[in-house]
Amino acid sequence: MAKLNMQAVRGMPDILPAEMPYWHYVEQGLKQAAATFAFKEIRLPCVESTELFQRGIGEGTDIVGKEMYTFLDRNGDSLALRPEGTAGCVRAALQHGLLHNQIQRLWYYGPMFRHERPQKGRYRQFYQFGLEYFGVKEPLADVEVLLCIHAVFVKLGLLPHVKLQINTLGTPEVRQRHRESLVAYLQQHVEHLDEDSKRRLQVNPLRILDSKNPEVQVIVANAPKLADFLDEASSQHFEQVQALLTSAGVDYTVNPTLVRGLDYYTHTVFEWVTETLGAQGTVCAGGRYDGLVEMFGGHSTPAIGCAFGIERLALMLAELDAPVVDVNHFYVIFPEDAIKQVLPVIANWRRESEKVFILNQEGGAFKKQFKRADKADCAYAIILAEDELAKQQVTVKPLKGQGEQFTLAQTDFVAWARQLPHNIESIAKCLPCHPCESRNPV
Ligand code: HAM
Repeated sequence: MAKLNMQAVRGMPDILPAEMPYWHYVEQGLKQAAATFAFKEIRLPCVESTELFQRGIGEGTDIVGKEMYTFLDRNGDSLALRPEGTAGCVRAALQHGLLHNQIQRLWYYGPMFRHERPQKGRYRQFYQFGLEYFGVKEPLADVEVLLCIHAVFVKLGLLPHVKLQINTLGTPEVRQRHRESLVAYLQQHVEHLDEDSKRRLQVNPLRILDSKNPEVQVIVANAPKLADFLDEASSQHFEQVQALLTSAGVDYTVNPTLVRGLDYYTHTVFEWVTETLGAQGTVCAGGRYDGLVEMFGGHSTPAIGCAFGIERLALMLAELDAPVVDVNHFYVIFPEDAIKQVLPVIANWRRESEKVFILNQEGGAFKKQFKRADKADCAYAIILAEDELAKQQVTVKPLKGQGEQFTLAQTDFVAWARQLPHNIESIAKCLPCHPCESRNPV
């Protein structure tokens, strides 16, 4: 029998324990920022009907046309691994009546699947954190989503490393008129287009504006601009978005060539881009999609949202050398035969202090136990030797040269441990630019 292939599927990476502190740090920052803007969590399935994405994202898009994982299940139904979260979120919101005469702010988090060519920052299974804001057509909703994203970057200490680009796509009618004019123009220059652009000319000409091919870019430079086709209301909407962003102190640039790879967008679209990651520099992207709810059979409902790429945020932290430490982990050192006395003490301390305790295993002289404590990368060794146990005390020895050891009553331990910064597992310590003092290094 052939040997079992023990490699992960290409483009679907494992995320190892050493990387998780960055992930936890990012996830926590996202959830906290979303909560301060009154977004609530919704959990959505990873599998939906293929048709949902075909109709929602658009048949002509790369995502649906080239990248979607689809399969027939045992009933013969065509299903797809979700390539993004918006279509499923709208489906769920409609199915459960969440959009009926109400404003709804939702966030979701989880893996998405696209059969793209894997490279740094681009995977076939990747995680998104998405925000979807339903029911408000005014520019303030656009700006609130952008402010929430801004708050995330501030919280994570990444704001100096990202730039916001915005554009407007206007209404579907505006896009249609622009599209006709664009196709007519590009057809005049068709002999200078590459194969990809020629194919897009038929299915999604707007995407040609996004081409990275320098020859195509020269042609695109003189192509009819969507901005020249905008109606009064669309222009006004976009101007108000810009005015509000400026008043909120959010820096941005207008990028007239910014088009997105999904068909559902209308009016405002945006991308937050970093230069720290190379080619895959978009760390958050989104826009308005005022027509999608109606297209899915609901009442006309304006909506705007975005999604962050979590791998890319974690990579940014790594690239920026954000130090990761296991803060406040305790390595418990004790004589092997005292385990029955030690266990209830530690059980109590775990519960009351919510800190991390690692019990020494397999006994050994104290010297050996200290060596293991160093190897376990703990901040402190706590010693419960015969003397301490007899006097109901505990000795705390800071490791990594962080000060002198001291002894305290066991009844005082929890109060001491609780005042140490950070009760949660391990997180990335502050970047130099982090604004939050509580994240100062321990
Ligand atoms: P998107 O631009 O396709 O938008 O993806 C959003 C983000 O997900 C990207 O900016 C990137 O950070 C990350 N991402 C996308 N593809 C990959 C990949 N193959 N590997 C790693 N990261 C990736 C959407 O998905 C829309 N649903 C966003 C949205 C929500 N618009 C309105 N509401």
